[in-house]
Amino acid sequence: MKGRFFGVGVGPGDPELITLKGHRVLGGVQVVCSPRSAADRESIALSIAGRFTGEGCEIMELVFPMSRDGEALERRWLEAAGKIGSRLEQGKDVAFVTLGDPGLYSTYAYLVEKLRVLHPEVEIETIPGVAAFLACAAARNTPLAQGQEKLAVVPAPGNPADLHLALQNFENVVLMKVARNYDQVVQVLEDLHLKDKAFFASRCGLEGSFATDDLDSLLGQEKDYFSMLIVKRGGR
Ligand SMILES: C[S@@+](CC[C@H](N)C(=O)[O-])C[C@H]1O[C@@H](n2cnc3c(N)ncnc32)[C@H](O)[C@@H]1O
Repeated sequence: MKGRFFGVGVGPGDPELITLKGHRVLGGVQVVCSPRSAADRESIALSIAGRFTGEGCEIMELVFPMSRDGEALERRWLEAAGKIGSRLEQGKDVAFVTLGDPGLYSTYAYLVEKLRVLHPEVEIETIPGVAAFLACAAARNTPLAQGQEKLAVVPAPGNPADLHLALQNFENVVLMKVARNYDQVVQVLEDLHLKDKAFFASRCGLEGSFATDDLDSLLGQEKDYFSMLIVKRGGR
């Protein structure tokens, strides 16, 4: 096995937010693979990475459906690791690109786990990226945490008790993947008198980018998957 495997965070959407190292690695690998949730859905990570790939670079798109079926997902990850392994065996360097950072709620972690089992000898390098929550806060020039404050980053819980716990124990809370539970989350914020201490941000750095403090105006509406709420008990 001669090829190396890289995980490259391409940042949240603005192509200028890729790191110099990510840029350099993408320009040097022979294969770039990118996740997408359905065969007919564009991979945003790839649309960013595509600007930086070298001539003749092979693009390998891997479909990972948004599913909670553990066995089906395991099969997909193994299949994907097998495909990547075949290129590494040919001596090709492969980069797996991920939106934001590869270590934050990314398929990359599962792939690395499978690759380590199938090809323990492979050299792996993870190149961090700007996580979306950092970009959402920066876009408003809002600090995420100051002094002794704590910061929690959690997937928006469907269960109000879990959300209460996070909001009571942390001064600042990033609620990722909020699209599905938005109305319930806003209700909890209202119950805790925190509704005017939060802001909503969607598609930061991407086409259709949108942010607002008026959480009520979005109730009952469908949200883009790339959306989050940031709650700052000390005020937004
Ligand atoms: C599977 S997680 C991926 C997180 C990513 N690896 C990161 O470092 O930001 C997907 C969630 O990240 C958030 N997200 C990703 N990109 C975003 C963007 N451009 N604007 C707002 N939220 C985004 C949303 O909460 C979305 O539901």
